[in-house]
Amino acid sequence: MDDAPAFRSSPWMVREIVEQAEPDDERVWVPQGDQIWFRPLLLDTVTGVVANLLRVRRGGNLGKHIHNAPVYGYVIKGAWRYLEHDWVARAGMFVYEPPGEVHTLVVDHASEAEEMITYFVVHGGLTKIGEDGATIGYENAFTKIALCDAHYRRAGLGPDFIRTVVR
Ligand SMILES: [Fe+2]
Repeated sequence: MDDAPAFRSSPWMVREIVEQAEPDDERVWVPQGDQIWFRPLLLDTVTGVVANLLRVRRGGNLGKHIHNAPVYGYVIKGAWRYLEHDWVARAGMFVYEPPGEVHTLVVDHASEAEEMITYFVVHGGLTKIGEDGATIGYENAFTKIALCDAHYRRAGLGPDFIRTVVR
């Protein structure tokens, strides 16, 4: 039909991302702490959304923090828990963390699984909380970009590698 609306992509759109989520190259995992790594999938500079795979092995503890906006998680492998809750997230489970949620993600030394991998979509930033309850730092899409970029350059993947996941 000649008068059918012409649906087409706009030249103003940012580029799509189609990447192997769990990489073959270990260097793509960005170290975030003792026994903790993440693989960035989308670092969105406009909405602030961070989509990533989080990998934590036995003994890993992300540190207490509070989220300003919702977090959605899907556990791909293993098991983990929050010190503040009495449930365990296991492979195949979906986790919703509402804005205002305060928690400390751990994979205990006694955990049933050696490592966990969870796909997290984190909206907004998070604020890190110290032992005494005081603010000790923050994370957002921009701190993630800086951390990843520094790691990828050090790891020999070059200055352009971070661009595969930044929009
Ligand atoms: Fe969190």
